[in-house]
Amino acid sequence: MSKIRILDNAFYLETARTCYILQIRDGFAEHLYYGDKIPPQDWRALVETRSCLLVNTLYPTADMTYAIDAKGFEFSLPNRGDSRSSGICLNCDDSVCDFVYDSYRIGACPQDTPMPLPRDWDESLCLTFRDRAHAGLTLECWYLICYDSDVIVRFHRLCNAGERSVDILKCCSGQLDLTDGGAYELVSLQGAWGREMSVSTCPVTQGMLMHGSFSGMSSAECNPMFMLQSAGASETNGDVYACNLMYSGSHAYSVERTPYGGVRILHGMQWENLRYPLAPHNSFMTPASVMTYSSCGRGGASRNMHRFVCNHVSTCRQLPVMLNTWEAFYFDIHADKILALADRAQACGIECMVIDDGWFGARDDDTTSLGDWHEDVRKFPNGIRSVAQQLARRNIKLGIWIEPEMISEQSDLYRAHRDWVLQDDELRPIVGRGQYILDLTKQEVQDHVVHSVGRLAEAYGAGYVKWDFNRRFAEVCARKGSGYFYDYVTGLYAVLRRLQAEHPDLLIENCASGGGRFDLGMMRYTACSWTSDNTNPLSRSSIQQGASFGYPLQVTLNHYAASPGHQTGRSSSVTARIDTALCGVFGIQTDITRMGDEEFAEVSRAVADYKRYRTWLGNAEVYRLQTGEQGYRISQYMSTSGQDGLLYLMREKFDTVTQLPVVRLCGLDPQAQYRVSGPKVNVSASGATLMRAGLRLPQNFTGVQGDERTLMLTDSSTLLLEIHKENTQE
Ligand code: GLA
Repeated sequence: MSKIRILDNAFYLETARTCYILQIRDGFAEHLYYGDKIPPQDWRALVETRSCLLVNTLYPTADMTYAIDAKGFEFSLPNRGDSRSSGICLNCDDSVCDFVYDSYRIGACPQDTPMPLPRDWDESLCLTFRDRAHAGLTLECWYLICYDSDVIVRFHRLCNAGERSVDILKCCSGQLDLTDGGAYELVSLQGAWGREMSVSTCPVTQGMLMHGSFSGMSSAECNPMFMLQSAGASETNGDVYACNLMYSGSHAYSVERTPYGGVRILHGMQWENLRYPLAPHNSFMTPASVMTYSSCGRGGASRNMHRFVCNHVSTCRQLPVMLNTWEAFYFDIHADKILALADRAQACGIECMVIDDGWFGARDDDTTSLGDWHEDVRKFPNGIRSVAQQLARRNIKLGIWIEPEMISEQSDLYRAHRDWVLQDDELRPIVGRGQYILDLTKQEVQDHVVHSVGRLAEAYGAGYVKWDFNRRFAEVCARKGSGYFYDYVTGLYAVLRRLQAEHPDLLIENCASGGGRFDLGMMRYTACSWTSDNTNPLSRSSIQQGASFGYPLQVTLNHYAASPGHQTGRSSSVTARIDTALCGVFGIQTDITRMGDEEFAEVSRAVADYKRYRTWLGNAEVYRLQTGEQGYRISQYMSTSGQDGLLYLMREKFDTVTQLPVVRLCGLDPQAQYRVSGPKVNVSASGATLMRAGLRLPQNFTGVQGDERTLMLTDSSTLLLEIHKENTQE
């Protein structure tokens, strides 16, 4: 049955558990409802009639119940009576636009879009609005329904069939007006390099909260994913709207609470300093906005987003276990060192060795050679291809690092193509990590990048590429405005699409100094994303838990690395590093030839465990468990079949004579019997018991004594338990 119903002048969009209702009235698209499913025929009961109580709002028609300021809209323009922040702001010959509803299309499929869209959506609706003031200018509002994941994807398209150019000053991808007067909180993912995805919650009071990134990338400072939750919502209860953007450039979102209790969410590409010209006979498409709703708290909204990413964004299901050379050798890399690792890597179960930075040009530090993507013969005297062949004999795939959008001043590429560099001749150049950015809006630069990356597969036999991006944009904003980032990102996606078509088997890892472009745009074209450079388990468990707000384990790449951690100087146990890295796509980033036998055996066991988990872990149902006690981060991952699971617990800080929390599991079948097992734990109980009474962990070390049954969960220690359903025969 169709997921879109037309009821007189209303549209009813349906997902598995939610519905979204809007009506066309007086030429406007009025938002009526988004939430748990309600009967379609009830839509008339949702039409706002309360607004006549307001004295200071404008009425566009004689109908005095139609006060613009108190209604919800699908998009809003300035100077039409809506005094909230507008989602779309255009300038056409210094006059305002006035879009009125024209027509709808169901089942249309936008072709060759410059911005990525999800794959395999169920149904689409396109509403077209015509600008009364400017002939030929239309606005399309698109809705794509991803039924299984309870996600609705929106984007706007402006088509200028007129003869005059239009300046886009703001064009959001998504707008959501909530008129229920409820109290809400904004949950955002903020941070910085090495401490990405820090969850921050703040109340939405009258006025506007605005977050975003200005650096040209989706950024470690503010991930595009955020949630709006009813005040006091928890992991399991409360209304939660979650939003994200399929976009890798500067972005923004605002949450505004009006004096009348309404809340408006806007999000899209960064609108500050935007003046994007839309020439006659051209169109402009916003990045796609992704939104979901759950009445089962933040956990419900996150699981919807995970399902969406697994089923409609990311394409790779199972990745090889990899060993990355960065923290093992940094720039001091050599074929001999890699081959010295190879036998041990094979014994350990490694399936892919990734040669990180330092292999090309004359790159002994970060000041040179970006752009010269040819092996340094001092380091690879027989060529990289010969390393690939020797690895292949051990069934290990070659992976290779590249930063294809960048260029060093000390490089042949710079000497040959100074004009490709993103620089402003009248401004002092701004160098970041000794490098500049290539101007990907130029076709010849795009060709060059496609060739450089493709060559790694063709000439070197690489099956895996780590695609890095290590500096932010600077001077472009001064001259071209933030619209430049849109063109840049469009160029980047064009390159990624070409590579996907030309090298369908090439796996690409997305990295930007860690999680600087951990976004749905990059995820649409890459196999997994490096979550953060910080691999210390205490920091990392927080980063991973933050990432789980919007992103499934399938895309979250984690590495086992050395202790003390290179980014924090903090020591951690082998177990904590393994357990934490296992909660996602697992890899290793340290010199395994320097490991003692015991550590090597533990790490090899982890690789074998991971190979068992990875068949189901990537798209697992994720539950962030709450206990009454502070200082723990606990996550439960259940396979979609419900047969297998993992329970991860990080204890941040140990105080003497404190007991471990009772852990109430989630998502189990109350009737079924489960075994929960792992270090010092072996419990068999029904789902009902484990969910209601909770899992009792053994006694922890108290600071005084213990025996062989005692757990040792001290500062930043972890516990990883397996969960298996026992009574499979029904
Ligand atoms: C970035 C990445 C690291 C590593 C280095 C190499 O910082 O995040 O993982 O690849 O670049 O220069």
